[in-house]
Amino acid sequence: MAGKDVEQIAVIGAGTMGHGIAQVAALKGFKAILTDVSEEILARALERIRWSLGKLAEKGLIRVDEIDEVLGRIRLTTSLEEAVSESDIVIEAVFEDVSVKKEVLRRVDHSAPKAALIASNTSSIPINELASALSRPDRFLGMHFFNPPQLNELVEIIVGRETSHEAREAAISLAKRLGKSPVIVRKDVPGFIVNRVMVRMLEAASHLVETGRYSVEAIDSAMIYRLGFPMGAFELADYVGLDILLGIMRVISARDPTLKIVRIVEEKVLRGEIGAKAQRGFYSYSGKIYERPKISPSLGASVDPALLVAPVLNEAARLIDDGVVSREDVETALRLGLNLSKPIFQYLENLDSTRIREALRIYEKELGPAYAPSPILLELQKTPPNRGEIGEISIVRETPIGWIMLNRPHRLNTLTLKMLEEIETAVRELDKDSAIRVIVLKGLGGRAFSAGADITMFKDLLAGEEDKAAKAREISEKFHCAAHTIESCQKPVIAAIDGYALGGGLELALACDLRIASDRSELGLPEINLGMIPGGGGTQRLVRLVGPAKASEMILTGERVKAEEAHRIGLVNITIPKESFDNEVKAYALKLAEKPPLALRAAKLALRSAQETHIREGLAMEKLLFGELFNTQDLIEGVSAFLSKRRPEFKGK
Ligand code: COA
Repeated sequence: MAGKDVEQIAVIGAGTMGHGIAQVAALKGFKAILTDVSEEILARALERIRWSLGKLAEKGLIRVDEIDEVLGRIRLTTSLEEAVSESDIVIEAVFEDVSVKKEVLRRVDHSAPKAALIASNTSSIPINELASALSRPDRFLGMHFFNPPQLNELVEIIVGRETSHEAREAAISLAKRLGKSPVIVRKDVPGFIVNRVMVRMLEAASHLVETGRYSVEAIDSAMIYRLGFPMGAFELADYVGLDILLGIMRVISARDPTLKIVRIVEEKVLRGEIGAKAQRGFYSYSGKIYERPKISPSLGASVDPALLVAPVLNEAARLIDDGVVSREDVETALRLGLNLSKPIFQYLENLDSTRIREALRIYEKELGPAYAPSPILLELQKTPPNRGEIGEISIVRETPIGWIMLNRPHRLNTLTLKMLEEIETAVRELDKDSAIRVIVLKGLGGRAFSAGADITMFKDLLAGEEDKAAKAREISEKFHCAAHTIESCQKPVIAAIDGYALGGGLELALACDLRIASDRSELGLPEINLGMIPGGGGTQRLVRLVGPAKASEMILTGERVKAEEAHRIGLVNITIPKESFDNEVKAYALKLAEKPPLALRAAKLALRSAQETHIREGLAMEKLLFGELFNTQDLIEGVSAFLSKRRPEFKGK
């Protein structure tokens, strides 16, 4: 069963997680069957779903008349066999107990269709252990949703020893169809990602309390006000529930003794102080919903933030070192699972690396070798600034601005296919991030926004054996896709041009909503000098922006225009003196960030539709022609002349 074919989802267990998962499935158009042992439990689950849908409607996230439609897609039954017998995927979300889960899975295995995918929503039990209850461990994996599944975007997909590639892909695709951001946990490690890191964080923080160094409040204050975490470690523990946390710690620590059960948590649970829900945990609560303890900002002033963040950074790095998760996925998991406002490794940028290593040395001495600095952490520290680089670009979240920085300064930020893909991913990520209101694209290195496609890519293409026109069309398509992603992003995208914006570089800027240039910038589409034409949308978007006369001149002569002229012809919106460029771009972006996001989004759509009549046909034509030119001698001449730094001689062949 491929993820795209799933129509019916059975959810076993109608508790907090189960009812939420069934609701998400129904919201996304799947048929959902929810099963549990009694009619009363099911009736309560349905009430909770109805309440939650009402809340979503109140917030305008769904229409009121959708509520009944969604409810109509949910079926309730006390018969597990009936629930699973015709379902494409079964998600087990029963009580977190190995033997209970195994028994349920055995029954599922017996009655579910042979092709069905079976997933467990366990948060701490080994997937391989649960797989042993099944006759088809290859069709089984973990899909760990986070509470509340209706709102939390994260799903950890845990791949068991015997999980097939197909099952893993199906789960990823299903999670995406459910509107979630799946992260792949490639090895069945205790606690997976988020819980593992959370327990490590709490273990270290509790050690500081138990050894009398700092108070609970001082630590939480430093985490919130100095590190910018949404909650301190102890407030988070209260929120999760100390009993739940103790359960998680017990299961994790039984398999991995380097993660110890935290003594102060155990003591509190014994006293019945199990967190916010009992009105008593590390803090006292009055019982109001969403109540937060009052923690003074000044309390954390004396706490070294490196001591608090180092264990988190190190555990995340170790997971990468051990091949459990990719860097990108660990960032996503912690951002969504712990609600961090920035990628965890960005902390390396602002904190003294010696302090982080010292902090880890203290913990290593007092708590054990699990705190020895991970090789990847040391490596990351060596290569600051680490600003969420994902290869050839850097992403900086400076809320409400999301910066995408082209990062190949040694080559004037020339664009490779890899860079284009990264730009697309970055735009999508920032588009999804609700804290980001405006995206700014800029080039690093102080000389160029981007000098266009990296011409060596064309040289390789010309030297290759494949169909050159087809290959060149593919490249054109990649540029079109990147430009389209920028154009269709829901938030305003600004191109901040300081220096050269040429060829593909200018074409990306043309896809942005606004262009701001420093007064020394030069913009142009010089492809003609290489025997080519612009293939990244330039022939279409430039005409629409500056009119056919000026566009023809720029494209046919390939000559660059200076910022001042670019401003005059409407190619850039504003020019700014070089000296104040960075500050003014930021001020402009902040101003835009204050505008109403939904209206901005609507305005973008309307503006695009005004310009876009027939652009697709124009682009198709551009791509075709771009490809054909790769079969000409002149293009070979143009490219080799550029690379060998001589004047080209074109012969019209
Ligand atoms: N592709 C590959 N390499 C490029 C490049 C491109 N588009 N643009 C610049 N470079 C390289 C140069 O070859 C040079 O490499 P080197 O240091 O190994 O010699 C380096 O980047 C710096 O460029 P250089 O030409 O020395 O700087 P400059 O200040 O004299 O000129 C430009 C800058 C941008 C005007 C000039 O490099 C240029 O015309 N580039 C080509 C622009 C282009 O045609 N873009 C469209 C591509 S389809």
